[in-house]
Amino acid sequence: MFARRPAAVLAFLAASCLCALPAWAQEVIARAASPGDVIKVEVQKDGMGKLAYTISRKGKEIISASRLGFNLANARKLDGGFSLRKQAVSEHDSTWEQPWGERQFVRNRYRELRVDLEQKSQAGRQLAVVFRIYDDGVGFRYEFPAQKQLPVAEIIDELTEFTVARPATAWWIPAAELPGLEEEIREAPLKEIGIANTPLTVRLDDGTHIAFHEAALVDYASMWLRKVDGQKLRAMLAPSPSGPAVVREGAFTTPWRTLQIADNAAGLYMSDLVLNLNEPNRLGDVSWVKPSKFVGVWWQMHLQSGTWNAGPNHAATTANTKKYIDFAAKHGMRGVLVEGWNKGWESDWGHGGADFSFTEPYPDFDLTGLASYAKSKGVRLIGHHETGANIVAYEKQMDAAYKLYAKLGVDSIKSGYVHEAGSALFPGRDGKPRYGHYDSQEGVRHFLKAVTEAAKYKLSIDTHEPVKDTGLRRTYPNWLTREGARGVEYNAWGNPPNSVDHEAKLVFTRMLSGPMDYTPGVLSLVGADGKTFNSTQAKQLANFVVIYSPIQMAADLPENYEKYPAAFKFIKDVPTDWFDTRVINGEVGRFATIARKDRNGDGWYVGAVTDGEGRTLPLALDFLDKGKRYTAEIYRDGDSADYRSARRFDLVTETKTVTAGDTLQLRLAPGGGQAIRLLPQP
Ligand code: NOJ
Repeated sequence: MFARRPAAVLAFLAASCLCALPAWAQEVIARAASPGDVIKVEVQKDGMGKLAYTISRKGKEIISASRLGFNLANARKLDGGFSLRKQAVSEHDSTWEQPWGERQFVRNRYRELRVDLEQKSQAGRQLAVVFRIYDDGVGFRYEFPAQKQLPVAEIIDELTEFTVARPATAWWIPAAELPGLEEEIREAPLKEIGIANTPLTVRLDDGTHIAFHEAALVDYASMWLRKVDGQKLRAMLAPSPSGPAVVREGAFTTPWRTLQIADNAAGLYMSDLVLNLNEPNRLGDVSWVKPSKFVGVWWQMHLQSGTWNAGPNHAATTANTKKYIDFAAKHGMRGVLVEGWNKGWESDWGHGGADFSFTEPYPDFDLTGLASYAKSKGVRLIGHHETGANIVAYEKQMDAAYKLYAKLGVDSIKSGYVHEAGSALFPGRDGKPRYGHYDSQEGVRHFLKAVTEAAKYKLSIDTHEPVKDTGLRRTYPNWLTREGARGVEYNAWGNPPNSVDHEAKLVFTRMLSGPMDYTPGVLSLVGADGKTFNSTQAKQLANFVVIYSPIQMAADLPENYEKYPAAFKFIKDVPTDWFDTRVINGEVGRFATIARKDRNGDGWYVGAVTDGEGRTLPLALDFLDKGKRYTAEIYRDGDSADYRSARRFDLVTETKTVTAGDTLQLRLAPGGGQAIRLLPQP
């Protein structure tokens, strides 16, 4: 069998089949398989010297011949006329430790296929394509060497294609629409989608799941996926207002184009491929990055009972913030976020953000006094920088603003980039302000700059309306979390609010890219103007486990937590940093059950969520230590619970003694969920 041959034999096979071909014919010029022989990649060239690749899994083709290459603005296209210079296959197997995350230790095991190419007709211009083939997916990227034939690459189009070989259903959101990836996640036949953001999750008719995404998006435009024909998707680079989508000088690599591939939805979420394709930690000791929980002067603005701007209903007053600090201290939450503390909210900030000051508090907010009051109570203020996506104005103040927070002992900042699609304002390539897409090359540069500059002050960042996550938290662990999908705020004012299947979709789509500041735990289940949530109370608890973030907001008002002490106990107990994560079961948009082990204790925590359908999901407890007895603290939907009526508040809390040999039957109400804490008995 091909798949069992050693790397040297594969290299020989690949090199031995170079021959002149008619334009339409394909020859395989390189191939390799994943370490466990699960996935096989072949690179082909046709008679015109155009490149394509295919991917098969367990012997079945899942990505049929898909093109590779570029159109350039300043030179003949990098597409066709290629000949193989050399190719090489190498093996890699290592395990690395995350400073925080879904699991402490991550195995990085792949076979790399490197294909070096040249265009003889273009004075020997060179390009390499490097594939990393894992048992759970494939990543590949292009490498542009420094060369006099192309000192600067002005990329207008990346021609990379992904042709899905079997009929598929897609879960997708359109690109270039609302900022921050906040469109509703749609389900449709893959052949009917438009221009999609990534991660784009598809399920093939044989049950195989693929998530298309990218890893290590640095100094490059975000990749959107445009359906061009049937089930063929083509990379579309977020356009730049300054000309070509990407301009790079000298040697550079593109981000990795990634395909996580699994037998089922659960397998997708278990994959660490995107993180593995990122560079290791560049910040060294990051013990100053603190996974934790926080509360905040926040939900009252979304309920419209408080305002960000100064005035009679100003929420960020000294007195109100003290209330939150006291509440956080009493209940063991590390952080207190305060929005609307700084001058500039009077203007139409979502359409300009020019008036924000990031150093001047409103007169009724005693920033210095509150920062030290918080510290005296063992709590930290969490900073807030809403920029209105006026990146030009923000970058001018960023250093002073970071310095101020660092001086006050504030060690994390939530930043925001509210704007309408295409109207972020950033420094263009010529240094002049330009309006454009937040995920263009210029936008991408800013988001990372905000993080690397923050690291200089030991500040961590939680970005809202962010560029999508591509695993850069591995390289810059102070990029703690981000929004990047519809959060719980849509249940306050969204029209429509988040759908009942939102979380079950998020887990297998958006969450494949990384942590999300989802702002869970609104036990009051009611938004502005009495709008009700498509959720039971138990599901609000489950979301703390299901939707991962190293910093989790307990988003409801303190008085609402005081109303529901039994449910609030789970929010107080649940950790935010994990030793291990297991997806027990799940189907995209239907249900998901996740078990996570505390990184700083022996407890396991389980969250299960369902869509509008009630269901019973078996939970085998075989992940628990054998021979130990555990107390299971169960927070479940009551027998009459239902998200469609006042019975959404029907929550039952109970305890049971269980062992690794037991299987629990989790009964979830329509729109419901279940949360469980499992602690070993002394
Ligand atoms: C949108 C963010 O998602 C939200 O959390 C924040 O409160 C507002 N912008 C204001 O910055």
